[in-house]
Amino acid sequence: LPLVAAKYSQQLENASTANKADDTPLVVGVGSGSTVVYCAERLGEIKRTFPEILHDLNFICISTGFQSKNLIIENGLRLGLIDNYDKLDMAFDGADECDENLNCIKGGGACLFQEKLVSLSSDKFVVVADYRKKVKNLGSKWSIPIEVIPNSYKYVENQLAKIEGFQKSQLRQGGQFKAGPVVTDNCNCILDVNFGQIANPAELHSKLIQIVGIVETGLFPNKNCIAAYFGNSNGTVDSI
Ligand code: A5P
Repeated sequence: LPLVAAKYSQQLENASTANKADDTPLVVGVGSGSTVVYCAERLGEIKRTFPEILHDLNFICISTGFQSKNLIIENGLRLGLIDNYDKLDMAFDGADECDENLNCIKGGGACLFQEKLVSLSSDKFVVVADYRKKVKNLGSKWSIPIEVIPNSYKYVENQLAKIEGFQKSQLRQGGQFKAGPVVTDNCNCILDVNFGQIANPAELHSKLIQIVGIVETGLFPNKNCIAAYFGNSNGTVDSI
């Protein structure tokens, strides 16, 4: 997995060279989950290695939630607010599933709303994952996490059941240390919804997002994803 991080450094360096020319800050989104930890570490390392190019005044990182905010700070990076920037240059994030057209399912860590906001605000989006996340069709292994306003979840489930392909919906529970459902960074709940294998992620997302109560879906139809890097168990990296 450190190789995954190393693989994207060239893109970052290209972005920073471009940045030097017009002197505007380089604004980079840092996603959530266990894999993106390596990205944050690498971003911190790059900043320490090139202090004359990247410093607190011109290199800003935007978080996708509580965990990501701490990752940014712990790695010596400067945390910025997304609403202070017209756009981000690039964002890195993990995925639960990624197909060959760079469509993804995200939200296994319940951070999908801010992840989507950050990825769509970025010129370029890069996925870092391990080989188990690469799938032919989305929905092969994972359900779609959907963020809902808490008191709307029953209504949403009833509407979901009317959509073709619907199989099952489950309100995600907090588990051992939380009685009741998972509460997201935006104080909402998560429904994990199974539609089986998804033929057209963009079409399904458009149907879902129209339901009152749904804040955002974990379907990320590819809009600006330029690459996905998959770490293999033997240390090699494949990319799309
Ligand atoms: C967080 O909500 C997610 O979208 C993660 O980015 C995704 O679940 C991948 O996480 P891992 O890198 O931990 O597998």
